Formats: sequence, structure tokens, C-alpha cells
Amino acid sequence: MVADTVRAILGSYTESFAVIGGLTVSFFALKLCFSMLKVLKVYALGRLAGIGRSLKTKGEWAVITGATDGIGKEYARQLAKSGMNIVLISRTQSKLDDVAAEIGGVSRVKTKTIAADFSQGTSIYDNIRNQLQGLDIGVLVNNVGLSYEYPEFFLDIPDREKLFIDLLHVNCTSVTMMSSIVMPGMLKKKKGVVINIASASGVIPTPLLSVYSACKVYVRYLSECLNYEYVDKGINVQCVHPYFVCTNMTKMRKSSLFIPTASTFVKSALNTVTLDAVTCGYLPHTFMESALGIIPRSLADKFQFNNLLSVSKRAKKKAAAKKSS
Ligand SMILES: NC(=O)c1ccc[n+]([C@@H]2O[C@H](COP(=O)([O-])OP(=O)(O)OC[C@H]3O[C@@H](n4cnc5c(N)ncnc54)[C@H](OP(=O)(O)O)[C@@H]3O)[C@@H](O)[C@H]2O)c1
Repeated sequence: MVADTVRAILGSYTESFAVIGGLTVSFFALKLCFSMLKVLKVYALGRLAGIGRSLKTKGEWAVITGATDGIGKEYARQLAKSGMNIVLISRTQSKLDDVAAEIGGVSRVKTKTIAADFSQGTSIYDNIRNQLQGLDIGVLVNNVGLSYEYPEFFLDIPDREKLFIDLLHVNCTSVTMMSSIVMPGMLKKKKGVVINIASASGVIPTPLLSVYSACKVYVRYLSECLNYEYVDKGINVQCVHPYFVCTNMTKMRKSSLFIPTASTFVKSALNTVTLDAVTCGYLPHTFMESALGIIPRSLADKFQFNNLLSVSKRAKKKAAAKKSS
């Protein structure tokens, strides 16, 4: 009955509509196949080829910022395991010494430490440049990052302008200046890898972490532009934008499939280098991102905002309780 009515209305156009419908379904099926193939290529092929273990061919040394904890420390450990000498850069000399001793002991590679506070602005880079002089650097991991203490409205952040400048220096100036210092050497030998750690907050606007979110967009766009400019000259610039990983920054301790340990995350991300210029770095995060892409943007934004608002309220309540006790 319904079919007859539709046929009566559409008349001779029925076949054309069927063809258009078929073509549309085929288009989306093909698109899905291509994206699945890309995911397979990146994660399966990278793992099979052991790309993470082969980065030594790019140069003898790897330089890692924010290298004494979390994701940065894992990049340092795993690049050392692949046989690369490691330059560790962070604020705290005692932590740098501990990580250098651990890495040197386990992997029998050379280590070098540079104590630098990236929130200090441009004054730190002459020293870093001098200390890196003459090293054959194959990999630079721009990992250091700073987020908020807890999610908050832009104008309600205590001492906000200091935090904004710190966020810009630690998240953006660092990536720009470190790349500017290290990439000329890579260009000269026509090989090298720069890995920039952005964030899912740089892919999905994250209200209540607004300045952090905007900084990570900067990191993503800088990476994509630099990769475009230099990939034909032998330098791969990769942007890795993780979702949640168990580290001090997230204060998450219990790992799960979707919230991996830093070790699991970096093992996966290292195998995507040179295969994907912009990546979540970790397959379950890629699936999460695809699923989020299906949800209407307004709904996703509302969910994100409400979620962070309750995180903010909880954090403030906890801080108030601590203060009064
Ligand atoms: N964890 C996640 O879920 C997640 C998700 C998305 C993106 N990310 C990004 O991943 C990167 C690493 O985050 P993480 O979670 O591994 O952080 P983390 O565990 O807090 O480690 C931060 C590292 O950076 C160093 N550091 C912090 N401030 C510094 C400064 N001003 N100058 C020099 N070094 C500094 C710290 O050592 P010292 O304190 O000794 O200096 C430490 O080694 C960041 O760019 C972050 O935005 C993380």
C-alpha cells in the first residue's frame, strides 16, 4: 500500500532515486572501508614493522621535553630501549638525574639532562641550544604541557593572566622554539622526526579549559603545516592528540581500555610515526574519536561542558574541605 503510494507519487523517477540511493550507500560504505583500511595500516602495519624500534636510523639522539613523568618519561624509556641516546629536559634536576640513571642502567645508552622551566619564556632557549650543539638528533618529542589545576570559567581563574602566559609559553612557545633549534640539523642531513603532543582538547573545543584547548589547536596546526613544508625534505612532523592517559596531569590512576597507562599509550603511538601525521596514537582513542564524530556537535559540546562543570565543582569542594580542615 505504502509502496504503491510512493510509486504513484514518484512515478517514473523511482529508478533514478534507487540509483542515487545505491550510489550514496556505496559512497559511504567505501568511505568507511577506506578509513578502516587507514586505521589498519597505521596501527597494524606500524606494529608489525616495529616502527618505534627503528627510529634510531634517523639519528643517534632523541630529545624529549617534559621527560621526567607521564607520557614524556615513557617516550624517553622506549626510545632508549630502541638504542637511542636520550636528552631529558624538565624543571627538576633531581628527577632528571633519577630518570637518566634508570634509562642509562636499563638500556645502556648515553643520557644528557637539561634543567629548564618552559614557563620562563624565551630566556631558556640559548642554554638549550648550546647544550644540544653538535648532537646528531634524530627525534624531537615536544611533550611538555601545562593544563589548568581544574576546569574553570575564563574570568574566574585565580591569578588568571599569569596562568594564561604560562600556558602559552609551556604549550606553544616550547614547541615552536624547540623545533626551530632542532630542525636545522635534521634538514641538513635530510632526516628526522618531530613528535608534537597536542590533545583531544585541540580537536574538540573544550570549554572551561579554554586557553589549554586553544593552545593545543596551535600545536596541531603548527605540526600539520610544518609536516607539509618539510616531509619532502626528509623531516616527518607528527601531531599526537591523546584522549585520557593515566598520568599526574589527569590525576587518573586506574587504567582501562580507554584510559591507558603512559607505557601502553606510547608503545602504540611510537609505531604510528611516519605512517600518520595526525593521530590519536592509540586505537581505542581513534574509535572513540570516530564515535564522537557521529554525535551532533551541539550535543557533544553540551555533554563536554556539563561533564567539566561537575569536575570543576568537585575540585573546588575538595579544595575548600582541605582548606577548612
Ligand atoms: N595525560 C593525558 O591524559 C593527556 C591527554 C592529552 C594530552 N596530554 C599532553 O601530554 C603531554 C604530557 O602530559 P602528561 O600527562 O604526561 O604530564 P605529566 O605526567 O604531568 O608530566 C609532565 C612533565 O613535564 C614536566 N614539566 C611540567 N611543567 C614543566 C615546565 N614548566 N618546564 C619544564 N618541564 C615541565 C614535568 O617535570 P617537572 O615537574 O620536573 O618539570 C614532567 O616531566 C602534555 O603536553 C599534555 O598536554 C596529556
